[in-house]
Amino acid sequence: MTPPEIKFRKIILVCTNTKEDGSPCCGARGGAELHKKIKEAVRAANPTIRVSKTGCLGTCKSGVNVVIMPDDLWLGNVTEEDIPEIVKLATK
Ligand code: FES
Repeated sequence: MTPPEIKFRKIILVCTNTKEDGSPCCGARGGAELHKKIKEAVRAANPTIRVSKTGCLGTCKSGVNVVIMPDDLWLGNVTEEDIPEIVKLATK
């Protein structure tokens, strides 16, 4: 294997996972829509920060869950109102 050419300095993972058994999940709480809005806001603030959808992060009850890496910041119960704070945390 070889290291990829990396053009991003951070990555924000937004859980969009859905569960068909009805148990709590980020997808049912608007994870996909939130991913799109966070991506737009972060890209406008700093295009070297990648925002990607992710599968289950294992903290489903506090969805929508977001992780900022490599800062190791785990954020739960994220809503659209939190987007400015996420941009601030990611770009500092
Ligand atoms: S479904 Fe999002 S953390 Fe499990």
